[in-house]
Amino acid sequence: MWLKILPDREFVENANVRDADVYERAASKPLEFWSEAAERLHWFRGWKEVLDSSRAPFYRWFTEGEINISYNCIDRHLGERSSKPALLWEGEDGSRRVLSYSELHREVCITADMLRGLGVERGDRVVLYMGMVPELPVSMLACARIGAVHSVVFGGFSPRALADRIQDAEPKVVVTQDGAFRRGKVVPLKQNLDEALEHAGGSVERVVVLERAGNEVEMKEHRDLTWREARRHCTAKVEAVPLDSEHPLFILYTSGTTGKPKGVLHVHGGYNVGVHLTASWVFDLKEEDVYWCTADIGWITGHSYVVYGPLSNGASVLMYEGAPDYPSPERWWEIIERYGVTVFYTAPTAIRFFMKLGGEPAKRHNLSSLRLLGSVGEPINPKAWLWYYEAVGGRRCPVVDTWWQTETGMVMITTLPGVDAMKPGCAGRPFPGVKAMVVDESMKPATRGELVITTPWPAMLRTLWRNEERYLKTYFRGEVYVTGDGARVDEEGDFWILGRVDDVLNVSGHRLGTAELESALVSHPSVAEAAVVGREHEVKGQAIVAFVVLRDGIKPSEELIQELRAHVAREISPIARPDEVYFVSRLPKTRSGKIMRRVMRAIEQGAEIGDLSTLEDVSAVEEVRRAG
Ligand code: WT7
Repeated sequence: MWLKILPDREFVENANVRDADVYERAASKPLEFWSEAAERLHWFRGWKEVLDSSRAPFYRWFTEGEINISYNCIDRHLGERSSKPALLWEGEDGSRRVLSYSELHREVCITADMLRGLGVERGDRVVLYMGMVPELPVSMLACARIGAVHSVVFGGFSPRALADRIQDAEPKVVVTQDGAFRRGKVVPLKQNLDEALEHAGGSVERVVVLERAGNEVEMKEHRDLTWREARRHCTAKVEAVPLDSEHPLFILYTSGTTGKPKGVLHVHGGYNVGVHLTASWVFDLKEEDVYWCTADIGWITGHSYVVYGPLSNGASVLMYEGAPDYPSPERWWEIIERYGVTVFYTAPTAIRFFMKLGGEPAKRHNLSSLRLLGSVGEPINPKAWLWYYEAVGGRRCPVVDTWWQTETGMVMITTLPGVDAMKPGCAGRPFPGVKAMVVDESMKPATRGELVITTPWPAMLRTLWRNEERYLKTYFRGEVYVTGDGARVDEEGDFWILGRVDDVLNVSGHRLGTAELESALVSHPSVAEAAVVGREHEVKGQAIVAFVVLRDGIKPSEELIQELRAHVAREISPIARPDEVYFVSRLPKTRSGKIMRRVMRAIEQGAEIGDLSTLEDVSAVEEVRRAG
């Protein structure tokens, strides 16, 4: 039996959703369910059909309806929430800004007018290559307001990665910053952009440069303008344009199995419905909440749950510019205390980082304002889950583990915090209106296998930018959406995510998720973090190779290797006993904190390592190479 934790009674009494019936109601009449969800938003014109499947799997939602997500995130709140903070921003250097909903409205209008003045029309792409500054959500909402399509490129990406994305999206305008602060240093965004544009600048007519870090930049005549110059004569009166529900909102690139990034396309209508409802129900947003999602807006989590989900609910959203441990590991906890953060959403990698420090920084701060915690991005191992629940949430806050993807747009599998019991390490069940299943290779239901979504949902991607064929091939078997994740369903119908299918090992005919093995390793008191990859093995098919980061103060030894192997054998099964354990001081990770198993696998197999543009620290690769 697994550990089961019931949500706090007081929380349940006040939760936005308290009635478990929603699941059944949504399952029996999904289109009615989504139609009711859509009615929570403002539509300029009502829709005809909730769902049009005639060109499946190119689904269309809320056909012929007219909507604008910028209107729903701003204008709709202008009456009663005019002076309510929409964005609470803290810079890494300690500077602070607050934008009320009416101030946000003004900024977005001026920026929308600026874009129009630079020649941006409905359907044109605008690339936003920025850090975590208020001008980023402002620019996104400004694009949406006039029907332009934004493509945010994470500020940590290299010129090469940026060039690939610009080449594919063909933006007319790029908005960037002189530089972005990161751990006290300046990342030269404008300079990176100049380099990218040398290779891929064909479509770009104008570049707008926000002055943030004050570093020197070169301005190209007739092409480059400062943010201030570009907005000088702009009006603060720009109406949100009524757009077809299926009008494209943004392209967000995500990596696939090949080197070329995939341009995931989301649209105004269905996406707005999906992120609005999930933000309200999963994060239980209330009028007085101070909501903080630590994700960078350069990723889908930031799009859906820093910007569009919470703002369309009229929430106060906190944004922090810098690194969690700058200038010290106290920073996040200071912020929670200072702003009285009530809902906090972050990633397991961050949780484990703080856990590794022994939890001291968190203990020194008053975190009693918190009432709900969320986790996203990778499976959260029970040990980290419990630490989060106890050390951060004081055993009072429900923890929602939210499974979803860039492609799904919205949270798909989780617990509803006022309804469902929590099982540490288990994501929960499909959100109401979502149908998920685990299947074997022949697409038959199984208790362990690949996670698929069997019916369409409003916030799903519509296609891959200019690549319908890859959309079909990557994601669909018939009309079933294939997630690429392995999962297990338990007797109660709850889903345990095992990690990407390409990270599932086959050891002597047994399927083992790398995430499962890592969770077992991390549950050992000496271990801070672990990554497991497969190595070809003559007899077993694959052997299990573990790279382990020890907790501070623990010394590596041969005994410890044997102890860890035995520990995993105990935790999962003797077939799961790692063949090799290597100690390293850190793991190769992407800048968003995902372990780059592709890289580790390649090293293990002596193969070509491939594209490293998203890697945070190249020396970690060298270390793995030496260890393995
Ligand atoms: C992949 C999607 C959408 C959030 C940010 C990542 C993994 C995400 C969980 C979770 C286990 C998770 C999956 C998924 N993942 N959330 N709660 N439990 N795994 O977005 O970069 O598109 O990655 O992240 O493997 O397929 P993404």
